[in-house]
Amino acid sequence: MLRRLHHEQPKDFAFTAANLAWAEAQITKYPEGRQASAIIPLLWRAQEQEGWLTRPAIEHVSDMLGLAYIRGLEVASFYFMFQLQPVGKIAHIQVCGTTSCMICGAEDLIAVCKDKIAAKPHQLSEDGNFSWEEVECLGSCSNAPMAQIGKDYYEDLTTERFAQIIDELESGKVPVPGPQNGRYASEPLSGITSLKEYDSGKTQYNASVQLATDIGDTVKRIDGTEVPLLAPWQGKAANTSNKPASKTTIVKPEAASKAKPVKTAPKPVASAETDTSGAGNKPKTLKAARASGADDLKLIKGIGPKLEALVNRLGFYHFDQIGNWTDDEVAWVDQNLEGFKGRVTRDTWVAQAKALAAGEETEFSQRAKKDGIYKKD
Ligand code: FES
Repeated sequence: MLRRLHHEQPKDFAFTAANLAWAEAQITKYPEGRQASAIIPLLWRAQEQEGWLTRPAIEHVSDMLGLAYIRGLEVASFYFMFQLQPVGKIAHIQVCGTTSCMICGAEDLIAVCKDKIAAKPHQLSEDGNFSWEEVECLGSCSNAPMAQIGKDYYEDLTTERFAQIIDELESGKVPVPGPQNGRYASEPLSGITSLKEYDSGKTQYNASVQLATDIGDTVKRIDGTEVPLLAPWQGKAANTSNKPASKTTIVKPEAASKAKPVKTAPKPVASAETDTSGAGNKPKTLKAARASGADDLKLIKGIGPKLEALVNRLGFYHFDQIGNWTDDEVAWVDQNLEGFKGRVTRDTWVAQAKALAAGEETEFSQRAKKDGIYKKD
């Protein structure tokens, strides 16, 4: 397929302040003289911000990396993940047309796209809200047929459900991604036959869908304020924006923006007793929850059942304990979360816990209560 720049281009391009901070942090990942290696993440972020990759964006990224424009153009035009033409304002839909999906009905899904969106791939719908294309295998063959919409996969699709999903998106909703036929993940339709012991304690949705619904950015343009943007190799958050985290997130990434650089890279520890960290200061801990009972720490976005158990093992049971952590204490806890290092900062636990301790709700806690997230826990 011939990939050319679109005939209509905007005059210029600029990253949002937060995306610029993120992009500049990405560049520092690479050794002196190798900054060009950051081209794909930077082009991708430009596309996430605008929806498609414009010529000014490609040139802007090339300038940031000290590259001749032709180098940037080579990369952008080589990889099919880069959209070189405008995409739907609401969503660009990528229908997998490879073997498993084709056998299971991809052609019917494409017929839905032709009917509801536009006759040809990469063509905008009349209202400019949608566009579509057929793509090669997206690695979800066991849930064929499927389509990627924004960042997420919609699997086990039927033509009816697919058409409904487009209608729901049109009306401003974001349908829950993942299997659309009642399957949890990719187990047999009749139910799991092995590994049954892992069936209890699972989250409402499978891990990918759970994360997708937690983050909720499926078809959102990314301006960099959605989550704290981490540059862990620098030991700090890259997001220098003072803007709120996002329209739908109540709390600011306070802990992230104030976190001090971590000087050492200590080993994670399994419990408070076995701390080998050395980073930050250990907060006051409790041996057990107070008589009133432990708070449901899973109401903090980013804490699931496993992490809650680990946090309890470290001696934290209550929102006010977490909400009172200082930057040094955040650094200590972040380094002592075995397998989850950096989550306190990344998911802004302190700001969330502060709100919850004060009896307020966060956008996530409201949703968690309503949807019964982690209800099996
Ligand atoms: S064939 Fe469609 S995801 Fe693999």
